[in-house]
Amino acid sequence: MNERYIDGFSKLTKAEKINWLATHYLQDDEDVRLLKKYWLADDQLQSLHDGFTENPVSNYILPYAVAPNFLVNGKTYAVPMVTEESSVVAAAAKAAKFWYPFGGFHAKVTGKVKTGHIHLIFKGEKEKLASFLERRKADFLQRLKPITENMEKRGGGILSVALEDLTDKIPGYYTVTFKFDTVDSMGANFINTVLEEFAMYMEEEWRKEGNEEDLDILMRILSNYNPECKVHVKVEAPVKDLPVDNPEKYVDRFITAVKMAEKNIYRAVTHNKGIMNGIDAVVLATGNDFRAVEAGAHAYASRHGEYTSLSKAYRSGNKLIFEMSLPLALGTVGGVTVLHPLAKTSMKMLGNPPAEKLMEIVASVGLAQNFSAVHSLITEGIQKGHMKMHLNNILMQLGSTPEEMERVKQLLGDEKVHVKRVKDLLEQIRKK
Ligand code: MEV
Repeated sequence: MNERYIDGFSKLTKAEKINWLATHYLQDDEDVRLLKKYWLADDQLQSLHDGFTENPVSNYILPYAVAPNFLVNGKTYAVPMVTEESSVVAAAAKAAKFWYPFGGFHAKVTGKVKTGHIHLIFKGEKEKLASFLERRKADFLQRLKPITENMEKRGGGILSVALEDLTDKIPGYYTVTFKFDTVDSMGANFINTVLEEFAMYMEEEWRKEGNEEDLDILMRILSNYNPECKVHVKVEAPVKDLPVDNPEKYVDRFITAVKMAEKNIYRAVTHNKGIMNGIDAVVLATGNDFRAVEAGAHAYASRHGEYTSLSKAYRSGNKLIFEMSLPLALGTVGGVTVLHPLAKTSMKMLGNPPAEKLMEIVASVGLAQNFSAVHSLITEGIQKGHMKMHLNNILMQLGSTPEEMERVKQLLGDEKVHVKRVKDLLEQIRKK
């Protein structure tokens, strides 16, 4: 066995894990010190965070920032955002301010249905499987009551159960397709538990009924593709009132830039990435699952067989309309949303919203982020703002003192930031 192979790593204490890493992987004591430096002083808080994962050895910190002035459906929010990309929060805040005088963001949840499947292979007569399911479904759902009762009390539960025939794709492939309303929870645990239990009843009862054909249940899992759990968001303003140089020309160029993302996949992916910059940051700050949201959003962007822009821009009468629809499966109760103390603070900051409100806020930040990016791209370009925000990182990498940082910023003024220019200025200051 390779000396780097280990059994029982998870049983080691945190300090033992780090020692083991130090011996086998980290050559530098500095890394070990760093891993320990990021341990929280509050043991209770540290244990809570350790509980979120297997084998924790440290904490990986990202900035927790706030974008104020987000007017969504007439209510003003300060939106918490967790991101490492320096220009994202500034861009969101800028767009929020831009749209505020025009009534801000108008968002509406257009559906909240989530989906899960039992994926199975059955080579017998389809009718036999279909009639088994129809005959036994009510009984299985009744047996699920201890799991579904609470969700039903909150106004949700299982909405439908149906057999889907996918035998044209793989011989014998069927799904038992479930639709759910999980109210204010993201619902992953609820959905997966329901699916696993229901599948177990199916297997047991299929055998008990003495059926000879093999019912091979392969997977029982929610889907992260939720096109029926969706939110629409829009901003609009009279073209002539837009606070830009030459509004008519600006709007033409803006609409064309968005159209380029509709028609060109290279632009579409980057355009949508800009949307997800905002969405992921709020999803993370509220303890939601950004991987699920990412996967669902990009799949939705290709729902017509070709990957395209999630947002659209057009003129309606004398107005510019900028809008987007996207699926967002978010929760405001359960899981990390209520366990992570800062996620709880985020929820408080947003007024402890139900899932629908959170979906509306998150989509608004996505559209704001998209607006800022396209606005910068068709005007001054993104590097000016980006590099300005990045300036601190550059200065820190160059080992500048706080006084040197201040002086470089003064000397740069409005000038475009280049690493070479910053280096030169720093050298000048140091020579003096
Ligand atoms: C950078 O993180 C995001 C942008 O590339 C988005 C866009 O191009 O629309 C600026």
